[in-house]
Amino acid sequence: MITNVNHQQTDERSAVSEQLPTSMAAAVRHRYGGTDSVELERVAVPDPGRRQVVVRVEASAIDRGVVHLMTGLPLLLRVAGFGVLRPKQPILGADVAGRVVAVGDDVDRFHVGDEVMGVANGAFADFAVADVDKLVMRPQNVPAEQAAVSTISGITALQALTAVGRLTPGQRVLVIGASGGVGSFAVQIAAALGAQVTGVAGAKNLDTVKALGAVHAVDHRTTPIDAIGSTFDLIIDIAGRNPLRRLRRALTPTGTLVIVGGEDGGRVTGGIGRNVRAALVSLVVRQRLTAFISKESLEFIEPLSEMLADGSITPLIGARTDLAGVAEAIGTLDRHGVAGKTLVTIGGAS
Ligand SMILES: NC(=O)c1ccc[n+]([C@@H]2O[C@H](COP(=O)([O-])OP(=O)(O)OC[C@H]3O[C@@H](n4cnc5c(N)ncnc54)[C@H](OP(=O)(O)O)[C@@H]3O)[C@@H](O)[C@H]2O)c1
Repeated sequence: MITNVNHQQTDERSAVSEQLPTSMAAAVRHRYGGTDSVELERVAVPDPGRRQVVVRVEASAIDRGVVHLMTGLPLLLRVAGFGVLRPKQPILGADVAGRVVAVGDDVDRFHVGDEVMGVANGAFADFAVADVDKLVMRPQNVPAEQAAVSTISGITALQALTAVGRLTPGQRVLVIGASGGVGSFAVQIAAALGAQVTGVAGAKNLDTVKALGAVHAVDHRTTPIDAIGSTFDLIIDIAGRNPLRRLRRALTPTGTLVIVGGEDGGRVTGGIGRNVRAALVSLVVRQRLTAFISKESLEFIEPLSEMLADGSITPLIGARTDLAGVAEAIGTLDRHGVAGKTLVTIGGAS
């Protein structure tokens, strides 16, 4: 059973909730494929599980992860739990900002009417279910659209720098892929934590990378990372798929490499072999070479929301769309790239 504002009008916050309809608009796909597999459909409004809430989605965001989940590539992700033959979750979208409209039986952290941000399951829709352990209250001074583009990429950057990269103030940090979804957060967070940041990006985005807080910005098309002219205590490797030997040349003798991602690693494994080699080499050298998968947990969502609230970071929104334009916007990110994140406005975020 759920506590639903439609049926319980005693909670004073229920007055600000709307009647829940039975169906909603959603960007849905029933097979892995290109942007033509994603269509706007009417589907049933989801019910929350015991430790879940239903959020009326104000806004969400598109990142590279959405492209991978749409295409089902690399194939490894299908066996990692997303559905082998077809996607288990037809509705795309994970980043969310919105208002709680229904809570499951075992939920005490949130109430109907709460304004939240975090990770949902199928956020390109009017309503989405979210685990309570992946949501926080949206800080009052953070607009819904900023909150909506922050969680997925922001917690990846935060973990790469802190839990995995063990950044300390004053260190020299190289962010490869500095203008993208993860990179635009990584540059800002590293600078906020007292690092001296160099960002690698395309020529058209070098000024943007500096505006985010990088001391130096380097064009990946003209300057190899081992020709920048200095070595780094920490490299956050988000894009470009530099070979391990080149990454090691750009590190100090005891520096740390954190591999976050990188496209064009192949259809089957996505190039995970480089991560495995890094772990093996790390056993026998003084440099620490690591890779990781982002943990969607409050341990990182909470501090990220605090950094948004205190102004240490301001998300870079490089493109915008609405629900009807989601497929086209995914295609734009995939083919041409977007500086920062693509905002998806759904329920009137401004
Ligand atoms: N490990 C994890 O848990 C985790 C979590 C999230 C994402 N990821 C992965 O991280 C990667 C990046 O994701 P994202 O959302 O940040 O993607 P994104 O928004 O597309 O950003 C990629 C950035 O890399 C830059 N770039 C492209 N080619 C480059 C090159 N040869 N050298 C250096 N930079 C280059 C691009 O800059 P310009 O446009 O300026 O050229 C672009 O801004 C993806 O592979 C994604 O799957 C991993």
